[in-house]
Amino acid sequence: MKARLQNRKIVLGVSGGIAAYKACTLCRLLVKLGADVHVVMTEAATHLVGKATFEALSGHPVGVEIFSQAQRISHISLVKDADLMIIAPATANTLAKFTAGIADNLMTAAFLAATCPVAVAPAMNVNMYRNAATQENIQTLKRRGVYVLNPASGPLACGVNAEGRLPEPEEICEFICTILGERLTLKVDPLLPKPQKPLELMQTKLLNPAFGAGLKVLITAGPTIEDLDPVRFISNRSSGKMGYALALAFKNCGAEVTLVSGPVNIKAPEGVKLVCVRSAQDMLTAVDSLAGEQDIVVGAAAVADYRSLSVAKDKIKKQDGVDELCLHLIKNPDIIASVGMREVNRPYTVGFAAETSHTEENAQSKLIRKHLDLIVLNNVAKKEIGFDSNDNEVTVFNKDGKVAHFKTQPKSIIAERLVKLIIESFKACL
Ligand code: PMT
Repeated sequence: MKARLQNRKIVLGVSGGIAAYKACTLCRLLVKLGADVHVVMTEAATHLVGKATFEALSGHPVGVEIFSQAQRISHISLVKDADLMIIAPATANTLAKFTAGIADNLMTAAFLAATCPVAVAPAMNVNMYRNAATQENIQTLKRRGVYVLNPASGPLACGVNAEGRLPEPEEICEFICTILGERLTLKVDPLLPKPQKPLELMQTKLLNPAFGAGLKVLITAGPTIEDLDPVRFISNRSSGKMGYALALAFKNCGAEVTLVSGPVNIKAPEGVKLVCVRSAQDMLTAVDSLAGEQDIVVGAAAVADYRSLSVAKDKIKKQDGVDELCLHLIKNPDIIASVGMREVNRPYTVGFAAETSHTEENAQSKLIRKHLDLIVLNNVAKKEIGFDSNDNEVTVFNKDGKVAHFKTQPKSIIAERLVKLIIESFKACL
C-alpha cells in the first residue's frame, strides 16, 4: 500500500469491546499509510489491550482520562487539527454516550469537540446491536453526519454466528481512505499547504451517510457470459469494479443496495445484497423481479448484446478441411431499457455507455432509446480507464444535455461523485 494518508492526523478511539485487539492492526496499517495516529481509549478498553501497545504502534502517548495530570492530553487539542476521528470498535455504551452528548471520558469529550469528520465502527453482541436503543442511536448519529461502518457477520465472542463483528482492519482502513479520498485525490496539491476548513465541509457534503437513507437501489455489474458449448463462451473484459464501487458508495450513504452481478473476481461489499447471475437472460430475470421495488436502478454491467441461438450440448469439434465456423447469434434483451420503459413502478433509471467513437452522440442517443433518466459515458477506447482498470473518467448526460464531467480518478471516488449526483437528480424529480 502506498502512503495514501500522508500528512493526515487521525484520532483513533478504542472503546471496550473484545475487538479492541483489532484496533492494534488498524493503528499499524494507518501508520503504514503515512497517517499521524493519536489513540484515545476508554478505561474499559485498557482492560483488553494495554495503552503501551498503542503508544508503541502510534509513537504518541495514549489518552484515557480527561483530568489526568500525567497525560496532559486535552480533548480539544486532540481533535483540533485532526482530519478524521474514528472509533473502532465502538461499543453500544459509547454510541449511546455519543448520541446523548455525554462527555464523561477523554474519548466522548473529544467526540463532542470534534469538527472533523467522525466515523464509527460498531462492534458488539448481536442482541445488543439489534436492540432498538442501539439501532436508534446509530440512525441518530448517521442523521447527524457521522459515518457508520456496519459490522460484519461471523462468529462473535459470545459464541453465536451473527452480525456484530468489527470488520477487518484492512476494510476499516479502506473506509477511512474513502472518506478522505476526495481531499486526497482531487484537492490536495502536495506542493500546497494542508487545506483546512473548506475542504472538510466539501468532503462531509460529498459522502453524507444519511443522504441515501431509506432509498432502495439496484445496480447491475460485471460482464455476462453467453455460452457456446460446455467449455466456450462469449463475454467481455468487465471486471465489475465500477459497479461494485457504486454499490459500496450507495451503501455508505445509507441506501439499501442490491447488486446483480455477472461473474467477477471481487468480493461484494459487506451489507450489500448480492444476486449472482451468468447470462444476460439470467440478469434480466433477476432485474425484472426486483426493479419494481427499487427507487433507483443503475446499469453498470457490460451485458453481451448477442448470444448464441443454441448452446451445443457437447464441445464443438474442429472439422478437418473446414476453415470457417459460423456462429448464429441472436440479440439479447436490453435489461436497462426494460427498466426505463416500465409503465408501473418505474425506478429512476441510470445507464452507462461504453463508447469508442462519436462518444457523446452515441451516449445521448442511448439515453433516449433506452428511456433513461441519466447516462454515464465512459470512453472505453482509453486503456487507462473503463474496462478492468482502477480508474475511470466519465461524463453524465440527462435529456437536456451534459450535467457533469468527472476527470480521471479512482473508481471509488468516481462512484461517490456519481452517487451524490444520482441521488440529487432523483430527489429533484420527486
Ligand atoms: O466492470 P469494469 O471493469 O469496472 O468496467 C466498467 C464498465 C466499463 C463496464 C462500465 O463503466 C460501463 O461502461 N458499463 C456499461 C457497459 C456497456 O455494456 O455499455 P453499452 O453502451 O453497451 O450499454 C449501454 C447500457 O445498456 C449499459 O447501462 C448496459 O448495462 C445496458 N445494457 C446493454 C445491453 C443489454 N443487452 N442490456 C443492457 O442493460
